[in-house]
Amino acid sequence: MSKCDINLIYYRSLPSTNTELRRLAAAGAPEGTAVVATVQTAGRGRMGRKFVSPAGGLYMSLLLRPESTDVLRITSAAAVAAARTVKAEFGIDCGIKWVNDLYLDGKKVCGILTEASYSSPGSPDYAVVGIGLNLSYPEGGFPEELRDIAGSIGVKCDRDTLIETAERIALTLVDTYRDPSLFIDEYRARSTVIGKDIYVISDGIAVKARATGVDDGCGLIVETEKGTEILRSGEISIRPR
Ligand code: BTN
Repeated sequence: MSKCDINLIYYRSLPSTNTELRRLAAAGAPEGTAVVATVQTAGRGRMGRKFVSPAGGLYMSLLLRPESTDVLRITSAAAVAAARTVKAEFGIDCGIKWVNDLYLDGKKVCGILTEASYSSPGSPDYAVVGIGLNLSYPEGGFPEELRDIAGSIGVKCDRDTLIETAERIALTLVDTYRDPSLFIDEYRARSTVIGKDIYVISDGIAVKARATGVDDGCGLIVETEKGTEILRSGEISIRPR
């Protein structure tokens, strides 16, 4: 049983569900408020990138009011909540590429952007977790620059299924993110990088490493020439850049 109700607000189109939910959060909306759209005109990705958000996707943001110790793990919990829901609703198993991308058949089908807001250091006011899931290929396909990278889970959803899927992701995340024992094993089991040679990207430079595991704080354990390191944030690649 959930500790919290989901209050879901549906839009056909928005500039960005994260931006809209941050506005509601600043106005005092409670944990469990969710904003869903079928199209975004100014979707935002990690590291200041844009997130192309055509019809055919599920774009949602969920408001959490976490303790500071929860914040670093929220994105990993969200990846599991999305993967678990995709399996339960559509019978499809996605992999998780550290830290926040869902992959299917070698292509990215879901990205996650968590934005936390602090009024004083160490004490978060809220976190907005934005999830963009490619349900079906957009008409005419993804833009040229994304064709080799972006995929979809290949399901066409009506409005009710879209909302039910968003609600299920939101409930799963609200119910699990405070307790790593409820998602960390599945996070590891779905990892597409543990046991693989990877590149750690830092300041545009790619350093060779081997991913050997994920610690209880959802950090990626890697072996490099310099020894063992635990990555808490950042970016990795399977291919050199
Ligand atoms: C990434 O892969 O870089 C993260 C992408 C996150 C996209 C989602 S879609 C819903 C929410 N609203 C946004 O503007 N971004 C997030």
